[in-house]
Amino acid sequence: MSTIKDDPGFELETLAEPYRIKAVEKIRLLSRAEREKVLKDAFYSTVYINSEDVYIDLVTDSGTGAMSDNQWAALMKGDEAYMRARSFFEFEKVVQEVLGFQYVVPTHQGRAAEHILMGLLVKQDELVLSNTHFDTTREHVRHRGAKPIDLVGDVLWDIDKEHPFKGNFDLARLETALERYHERVPFVLITVLNNFAYSSPVSMENIREVKRLAKKWNKPVYFDACRFAENAYFIKTREPGYSDKSIGDIVKEMFEGAEGCWMSAKKDAITNIGGFLALKDEALTRRCQERLALFEGFPTYGGLAGRDLEAIAVGLREVLDESYLRHRTDQVAFLAKLFKDEGIKVSLPAGGSGVFVDVASLYGHIPPDAFPTIAMLCDLYLEGGIRAGAFPFHFNIVDAKTGELGTKVFQFARFAIPRRVYTKSHFEYIAKVMGQVKRNAAPKNKGYKCTYAPPVLAHFFSKFEPLG
Ligand code: F0G
Repeated sequence: MSTIKDDPGFELETLAEPYRIKAVEKIRLLSRAEREKVLKDAFYSTVYINSEDVYIDLVTDSGTGAMSDNQWAALMKGDEAYMRARSFFEFEKVVQEVLGFQYVVPTHQGRAAEHILMGLLVKQDELVLSNTHFDTTREHVRHRGAKPIDLVGDVLWDIDKEHPFKGNFDLARLETALERYHERVPFVLITVLNNFAYSSPVSMENIREVKRLAKKWNKPVYFDACRFAENAYFIKTREPGYSDKSIGDIVKEMFEGAEGCWMSAKKDAITNIGGFLALKDEALTRRCQERLALFEGFPTYGGLAGRDLEAIAVGLREVLDESYLRHRTDQVAFLAKLFKDEGIKVSLPAGGSGVFVDVASLYGHIPPDAFPTIAMLCDLYLEGGIRAGAFPFHFNIVDAKTGELGTKVFQFARFAIPRRVYTKSHFEYIAKVMGQVKRNAAPKNKGYKCTYAPPVLAHFFSKFEPLG
């Protein structure tokens, strides 16, 4: 938990919210017998559990945040004209101001932006080089017949290692990959913060070096900017030389010199839907707008309502507020600390979107082919009505010396924290439930067998049955 030191002489360590609550939404905890039935009916896969049957939902921080009074008020200003609505120009102005790119293309969410852009930039057999691809990003690269390569450092494979910027590129790997494969590389992609690397940030120094290497090989740099403000806050608080800079200035420096970015507004614009592309090049923007008209909508609304564009515009300014960012990141750090106190191994220091738990340390007795991550998700729901996310992910990696391509499986559980939704008491409850999972449920769990898994985005659709 950080200390508020806003005025001289005022210092207080607190997790007090920088907002008060104006509307509430009822949630309820089903009985143990009800939860057992729900889980069985959901094929032991929490993705099939209705939201109504979940007490605390930590499956994602995407689109699950609470909008502010100003965002709700902005909805009323939505101009719903099909073409050239006032709301688009307000949205465009704020994206230009905050992220520094001239051309703005709205999309209904992040993956729609990925679809539009990758359809133009990525070809068969190419290699997209990133610190880490999010799963939809990865699938969009694969959908083009290309390969997503994840160049995150070895710190990812050792959850016990503390590092302030686990999201960084391994620069030696990037250099080797560019040297060896540059003819097949359409662009370099920096994901901030690095969601699947423990939602850990990328340092400014690393961003600078990635841009330098990309420039050396004449490759454009794009950002996956979903959690850009959280990344900037960690640069401010963890990287020497940035403590006196404003979040706005740090954000500008992060994106400086890049060709563009895409963003899911469902994260750091704190809206329930939305996304966009923000680009430097006019000709590329025109091509994106043409594809947009085919898949999403007219270039000034792109699959969204005018009111959504208004809410995004307000959210993008709100997210730069340091008292918001401090509280947001403190909540994640607080839950991580409570888990640690319960003897649960987590990635430290905690990152932005949620707390990452080492499943192997709790379910070491279950072999990988009996799905320890599913075991943990089921136990968590049975013990306390909580839903989290846990998956094994297949990374394509590069050997830093030889440049040989390989694969590695990364298994993790993420307790994602929705923005401005849960309070300290909820986190205390979650930690107590996890303590029970560790002590009582995990040792008895024998694992699961998969009864159904489709080839694409399997974690959204798979079904299971308990073993033993
Ligand atoms: N890129 C990153 C880094 C993401 O985390 C996400 C979504 C997307 C792209 C796609 O955006 O959902 O608006 O289409 N992440 C969510 C999550 C779903 O749970 O981490 P989207």
